[in-house]
Amino acid sequence: MNRREFLQFLGVSGVISTLPGNLSARTPALYPVSLAPSLEDKLLTAQDLNYKLLLSWGDKINVSQKFGFNNDFLAFHPLQKDRGIMWVNHEYVNSLFIKGPERSKENIDFERLEVGGSLIEIRKVKDDWQLVADSKFNRRLDATTEIPFAWPEPIMGSKVAIGTLAGCAGGKTPWGTILSCEENYDMFYGERDRKGNTTKSWQQWEKVYPLAPEHYGWVVEIEPETGKAKKLVSLGRCAHECAAVTKAKNGKIVAYTGDDANDEHLYKFISDSDSSLEKGKLYVANLEKGEWISLDINDQPKLRETFKNQTEIQIYTREAAKIVGATPLDRPEDIEFDPLTGNVLIALTNNKPKKNYYGSILKIMEKNNDPGSLFFTHDTFLAGGPKTGFASPDNMVFDPKGNLWFTTDVSGPEINKGPYQGYGNNSLFVFFRSGSRAGEVIRVASAPIDAEFTGPCFSPDFKTLFLSVQHPGENSPSADKPTSTWPNGKTPKPSVVCLQGSLLDKIVQGNI
Ligand code: FEO
Ligand code: CA
Ligand code: CA
Repeated sequence: MNRREFLQFLGVSGVISTLPGNLSARTPALYPVSLAPSLEDKLLTAQDLNYKLLLSWGDKINVSQKFGFNNDFLAFHPLQKDRGIMWVNHEYVNSLFIKGPERSKENIDFERLEVGGSLIEIRKVKDDWQLVADSKFNRRLDATTEIPFAWPEPIMGSKVAIGTLAGCAGGKTPWGTILSCEENYDMFYGERDRKGNTTKSWQQWEKVYPLAPEHYGWVVEIEPETGKAKKLVSLGRCAHECAAVTKAKNGKIVAYTGDDANDEHLYKFISDSDSSLEKGKLYVANLEKGEWISLDINDQPKLRETFKNQTEIQIYTREAAKIVGATPLDRPEDIEFDPLTGNVLIALTNNKPKKNYYGSILKIMEKNNDPGSLFFTHDTFLAGGPKTGFASPDNMVFDPKGNLWFTTDVSGPEINKGPYQGYGNNSLFVFFRSGSRAGEVIRVASAPIDAEFTGPCFSPDFKTLFLSVQHPGENSPSADKPTSTWPNGKTPKPSVVCLQGSLLDKIVQGNI
């Protein structure tokens, strides 16, 4: 795409003025200058923003364990000033880069150690965050870790699951635990419906370990200082993208979670407690009625006709949601609370069969601004497409001034092709809420080839934005012909980076 085509693609004068190098002679470039779409195999940052590697796939985190593959969600648990434990999800593997595509027990055994999560202690030395190599907190959870179900009944005959996997985004609770959400769990052990029909999985681990698919697809709660974990059956089972936790006006805990698949749903769990997510009621959103609909068997005669008990509803949540009239959505991914309004924002990434390629961010306004309410109105907060210059919003984080930092997730083979032509590699954007640039979206970082940025997470002092660089080189035909060699010029390595610089400082202080 040449400069003229690029300008036509953007087609908005306010955005044109932010182009690199002041492309329009009539309009002086405003600071900060939006990064141009790129197809380079580099992590590019806007002017006055820089990045440093924190940890890459395969780095040792203690004497016997390594940092896993395809890092996603990041959460920071503070210990003391400039020191904390970071939780990192390791969502899935690319067999090419582990031990190879053959589905042998040996290869699968290696892969099972690459997913799950890492707990790592990090500290800031001068301005740089680094691993505390000998920390007692450094540990892994993986696909072999035994994790109990927090539920009174067994799940498919067991009180314990073997491992956690497919952890995508997540959340944090007010009592200091981390939530890791098992998203595309069917890629490891397949799926099984209520009639017992099974599907084959992408990774085909079930050939060696025929574990119950029903043991995955849950929200997992982890204590960062001990690594103790449990699967929260209360929040239902689906391709959970994330779990965003807040409090109702009466103090009870409320968790919002989206099911990231075309035409799936948005859920809300209202706890019976102010300090636990184990007991309460699960609801699903009906946008036409503006109502949260109960999925409790005692509230819904239609569910009693189909399901024998609440445990069955929790396992087949998608099916129950459809029976009670849940609204199909365009891939609900990350969820955040707007610090300026209290509204609930949900990234709707896209829905390609419905020709929605660019996605949007949905805004839910709860009645009386109370997360405990069962009624709401909704609107579009921000739409992707040519006017805003981004496509397929995914993970989001607000800074203290209410500026929204968000990443995009155009799937690898479609990057800069078809409807995505001109959008370049997946990127990190900022939507300004105040100041001279209020209402504008600018691109502040561009990912290497085939990668997406995930897990944006601010340090407590807001001087650093931690960011995952997930699946660089994902579409490589073989390990020796990688499409990306980021970050070391040889093998692509998913990594966590630290973004810093005067641009970040100015934005988070509201000085733009
Ligand atoms: Fe793992 Fe929906 O992204
Ligand atoms: Ca995601
Ligand atoms: Ca994604």
